[in-house]
Amino acid sequence: MEQVLPYLESNRERYLAELKEFLAIPSVSSLSEHVKDMQRCAEWISAQMKKVGMENIQILPTGGHPLVYSDWLHAAGRPTVLFYGHYDVQPVDPLELWTTPPFEATVRGENLYARGAADDKGQVMIHLKAIEALMQKHRALPVNVKMIIEGEEEIGSDNLDRFVEEHRDLLEADLVVISDSGMYAKGVPSICYSLRGLSYMEVEVTGPNRDLHSGSFGGSVHNPVQVLCEMIASLHDKNGKITVKGFYDDVRSLTKAERDSFKKLPFSDRQYAKDLGVKQLYGEKGFTTLERLWSRPTLECNGIWGGYTGEGAKTVLPAKASAKISMRLVPDQSSEKAAKLFEKHFKKIAPPTVQVKVRNLHGGEAAITPIDSPGVKTAVAALEKGFGKKVLYQGEGGSIPIVAQFKKILGIDTVLLGFGLPDENAHSPNEFINLGNFFGGIRTSAYFYNLLPDFWQAKGKKH
Ligand code: BES
Ligand code: MN
Ligand code: MN
Repeated sequence: MEQVLPYLESNRERYLAELKEFLAIPSVSSLSEHVKDMQRCAEWISAQMKKVGMENIQILPTGGHPLVYSDWLHAAGRPTVLFYGHYDVQPVDPLELWTTPPFEATVRGENLYARGAADDKGQVMIHLKAIEALMQKHRALPVNVKMIIEGEEEIGSDNLDRFVEEHRDLLEADLVVISDSGMYAKGVPSICYSLRGLSYMEVEVTGPNRDLHSGSFGGSVHNPVQVLCEMIASLHDKNGKITVKGFYDDVRSLTKAERDSFKKLPFSDRQYAKDLGVKQLYGEKGFTTLERLWSRPTLECNGIWGGYTGEGAKTVLPAKASAKISMRLVPDQSSEKAAKLFEKHFKKIAPPTVQVKVRNLHGGEAAITPIDSPGVKTAVAALEKGFGKKVLYQGEGGSIPIVAQFKKILGIDTVLLGFGLPDENAHSPNEFINLGNFFGGIRTSAYFYNLLPDFWQAKGKKH
């Protein structure tokens, strides 16, 4: 590392310039108008992989957007890391709320602003640049590395399970490393050991066979927008509990140790509410904010539409109303089962005046990563060296469904080495990555690859 650290320092400007190039490609996976950009982005990554010294680089078809694979496998007798990241990004709307254009990465203060800056292009780049520095200074890596960077994470990784199943040999590794989450706070490095699962539903309520004049027909037929609003409102009770029958049946309870450890973390409800611009927080009664975020399931309406939403007034009684509803799940819940329970419940509460359609868009399971594993111990040591601060252990409310699948299909645990920040505006306007975290992340990742063989041996593994 005595040689790697100065190399990293002297290449900061170039690293930033290359990250800006990566961020300039509008790789929005959900929008068909960006199909060509997805391919272009995959090609950009494969060129970048070549540049940093990875080998066996392949852009692999998945049935959806392509996935980029590469490896470097010359560290005989050392562990093999499978690094996973995603190059796709969320849509940018509402565009008018961006201070600078989402695909023209711009430094303001200590942050770099662009769509994908933190989620996940910046964090993918962190590893590529750590690898570059190690290769430049040592002509070799301290461990074997395989990388897959996919293009469909933000739309549910529909094709990834099958890809992993069909490429078991190619992906065989000792541990997975993912940098697609955050640190506890600025200057507070942390290890994330839990992710929530997800079931994502779309519902449609249909009333009359066409839009109607709201004067001529209002009073005679049930308005689907009203029906949908009442149905959605009834999904929580006055204690903030979800009313879907059977929803909590499999929920794993928080342990006393877990509750105690959350209470020790620095957290202020007041400050949190202030940062978000709300007068008061909301959530399931009987649990603290961190408990509700990390260890309790939730249900959210992500979007709702129907009827007239254009300029001015139009008197109409709409024929249809729709909503996107997601459920965040915790260990022992199944996303399939949650979707089924939701569908059954939602159809049951529909009044006889309308018809209801429920679709399951995608889902994924919650995951817990073992914190006493050699991989996590390495990550802790690397973070403490990279950021010069003690590491906290945290849960996470977001979802990375492939973590549970890597365990299920390949039998391997994941280390979540996140360098984002809680206020990074992921999925929202003005997404950014903190530059201190970007460069600290590169240092940390280089330390991680360097330290892993020692921790792996210390644990008495075969390698
Ligand atoms: N990087 C996020 C997951 C995440 C968010 C981890 C916040 C840690 C903190 C990922 O790109 C993401 O957005 N996942 C989706 C799920 C997916 C199935 C669409 C999510 O959590 O909504
Ligand atoms: Mn992500
Ligand atoms: Mn995301």
